[in-house]
This record gives sequence, C-alpha cells and structure tokens, in this order.
Amino acid sequence: MNIATDHVYKLPELPYPMEALEPAISRKTLLYHHDRHHRAYVTKLNELVVGTPFHGTPLEEIVRTAQGALFNNAAQAYNHAFYWNCLTPRQGLAPSDGLRAAIKNSFGSPEHFIDQFRTSALAKFGSGWTWLVIKPDGSLAIENTNDADTPLRHGRTPLLTCDVWEHAYYLDYQNERRRYVDAFLKVLNWAFVSQNFDAAHSKEKEDA
Ligand code: FE2
Repeated sequence: MNIATDHVYKLPELPYPMEALEPAISRKTLLYHHDRHHRAYVTKLNELVVGTPFHGTPLEEIVRTAQGALFNNAAQAYNHAFYWNCLTPRQGLAPSDGLRAAIKNSFGSPEHFIDQFRTSALAKFGSGWTWLVIKPDGSLAIENTNDADTPLRHGRTPLLTCDVWEHAYYLDYQNERRRYVDAFLKVLNWAFVSQNFDAAHSKEKEDA
C-alpha cells in the first residue's frame, strides 16, 4: 500500500466511486477528504523526505521511526490509505470466522465490540483516530490515537480505523460526531478487517 515508486509516494485512488458511500458519507466529503486533505499529506511527505535517510523507503518504515513533520505527514498518508479501505458500499458483509471468535474473546460479542468502538470514537477529545488493533500478546483492543499517531508506532497491528478528525464529517454532520460514527458503522468493510486479521494470524503461525 502506498509504497514509494521511483522515490515518489503516490496518493492511492479511492477503492470505490466518490458517491458510492452516500448517504452515509457524501461525495463532497470524499472529494475534500481524499483529493484535498489526503493529497496534501502525500505532497508534503514527498517534499519533506528528500535528503533524509528515509527517501525511497517503504511508507510503513517512515511511520515507525521518523520524527516531527515527516512523521506527521507520513502517518497521515498511511492512516488515510488504511481508512479508505475500511469503508465500502457493499452491504451484508460480516467478520470471518477467525475474527468473529477473536472479537467474542476480547469483547464478548460483535454487538459489544460495536458499542465499545462507538463509545471510544465519541470519547476521543480533539483530532485523532479510533482503531481496532492486535496487541503484541495477540489479543484485540480498541485504542484511540492523537492527531497523526498510529498503532504501527506502538507495535500494534491495525485491523480497522475510524478517522475522527472533524474534516472527516463536518460537511455532512457538522459537529455531530455521533451521527458520523453511526454512519461509518453502516459502511464498515468487514471483508478488509477480516483480511487484516487473517493475514496477521497466518504470519503469527509462520513466526511460531
Ligand atoms: Fe482525515
């Protein structure tokens, strides 16, 4: 995802048409969020990385180890690319068997998980992200990060994220984050979350 090609980090295309998530998330929101905000982070990343030891390295490596503005722009480039994949116009998706079992283990049931994820997203003060992650001990957790911060930085494997910066929802819902989070949950891409979980689980088995 978003790997440097010829030493240039690219803005990934949205995996669906701009209007595909309506009415949950409007075309106008995606237009500004993807084509302006995300593009600006990628552009700035490309400016800042020149002349640093990170030039041409995979984006994830910058996110894990860079500092300051380079980290902020790289992390926002990474987080947004991840976020677009957490959304889908496809309805009726569900967690894979493995993910469902892990969610049951950590949160009691998929419904409890959704409740806790919603509560965490609403409790995040200011700009940031709400994540479902795998912790180093293999358990699942819901964690919030501030501003551009990302679980990759803290040894976690991200499975799902919700962007709770106001730019993600202000055009559609103004200051009503609750309505945005509820809408987000209606277009949640369980196939992507399951794919992330299953990939992490296979890697764990290989490493064992
Ligand atoms: Fe955003």
